[in-house]
Amino acid sequence: AIDIEKLRAATGAITIDPGYKNTGSCKSEITFLNGEEGVLRYRGYTIEDLAEKATFLEVSYLLIFGELPTASQLEKFENDIRKYTMVSEEMKSIIDGFPRTAHPMGVLSSLTSALTAFNPKSVNVENEKELYEAVCKTIGKFLVIATWTFRKRMGYPLNYYDNTKGYVENFMRLMFELPTGPYKVDPKVVAALDKLFILHADHEQNCSTSTVRIVGSSHAGLFASISAGVSALWGPLHGGANQAVLEMLQQIHDNGGDVAKFVLKAKDKNDPFRLMGFGHRVYKNFDPRAKIIKKAADDVLGTLGVEDPLLDIAKQLEKVALEDEYFKARNLYPNVDFYSGIIYRAMGIPVEMFTVLFAIGRLPGWIAQWKEMRLNKEPIGRPRQVYTGSPLRAFKEVKDR
Ligand code: ACO
Repeated sequence: AIDIEKLRAATGAITIDPGYKNTGSCKSEITFLNGEEGVLRYRGYTIEDLAEKATFLEVSYLLIFGELPTASQLEKFENDIRKYTMVSEEMKSIIDGFPRTAHPMGVLSSLTSALTAFNPKSVNVENEKELYEAVCKTIGKFLVIATWTFRKRMGYPLNYYDNTKGYVENFMRLMFELPTGPYKVDPKVVAALDKLFILHADHEQNCSTSTVRIVGSSHAGLFASISAGVSALWGPLHGGANQAVLEMLQQIHDNGGDVAKFVLKAKDKNDPFRLMGFGHRVYKNFDPRAKIIKKAADDVLGTLGVEDPLLDIAKQLEKVALEDEYFKARNLYPNVDFYSGIIYRAMGIPVEMFTVLFAIGRLPGWIAQWKEMRLNKEPIGRPRQVYTGSPLRAFKEVKDR
């Protein structure tokens, strides 16, 4: 590897790499990704094994602390997260201030940032106990406020965590349970959602994770860094793609289901339309998460007895695009977001909540990366630029302009 500091000192050269397509911003022990072969591993374990055999909180522990938990460590972790699921009453008045039409991701980012007001002490990352508590607190509270963004939108009374139930089951309850009676959650839905969260849990230096690391590199607190990550995830080129996919499938459906017409549109360079859920910065072969999700979509819809014309359109679209020279030449394959929205929809989750679900899944990854960055004592993130503006100019008083 080139020593950039030495190169710059010797030549004054700055590397220009728009979108950081070939810039490694850090060394990391968390996630291994091979885009050519379609390989994804967390801490050395394949995504296929983890999605099949582990639970979301088990994977969260693995990502954050580096090892799979023992049974007693996992039980303690789940209990400790539960302890922190109470959210300050004053947070409710902050939620009240939002219009019901506000996008849940905007509200989630704001509420996560607002948590800094109630947890003002910055975490001493060197202190294991303090760090562990901060991790549990973040995972506990984030789930509750994430679901509150939905309840606000629906005009439902805010709901509280049920300590007798698991984290993922609580997500569904927190979303949908009404004062009229308990909300029964199908265990198959819980299992599928758990798997989806695992598939989203980390993906090395993607846009939102890099954002979390760079904000945290100024030693801003954990909640502030996570809040920035939520904002980065919101965009349709990143986590917002799962919402955009569903909207696109709906649009194709409403236009008579002519898949080929939309593939043609996506290839037209004068048309800004892209096939949402296709393409990836790193995967240039296939996205291993998309394979698992495609199967899960069939399973979940089958189990719930849901027939969704959008699933058929998605499958046709995938087929047509994969046989198309344009998509082949550019190695554009379905990514993780292509099928996830269809599963969420089958579970009754409204489209504007899709990216919030991605955020819940990605949270342990953000925490793990933030922790690694701080423990490695990484310097503040501060890229350089090549200036292309005006040369030196003489200032003219306003009266002379
Ligand atoms: N539809 C049509 N053409 C596409 C698409 C697409 N979905 N994605 C890329 N291309 C084309 C580009 O127009 C470009 O063509 P050109 O070489 O003729 O100019 C070429 O493929 C390379 O695309 P880039 O935009 O340079 O690739 P980059 O790595 O910068 O972008 C991204 C990756 C943002 C994911 C892109 O593929 C995209 O916009 N996809 C749709 C949005 C999406 O699904 N995002 C989710 C990503 S996964 C995630 O965040 C979890």
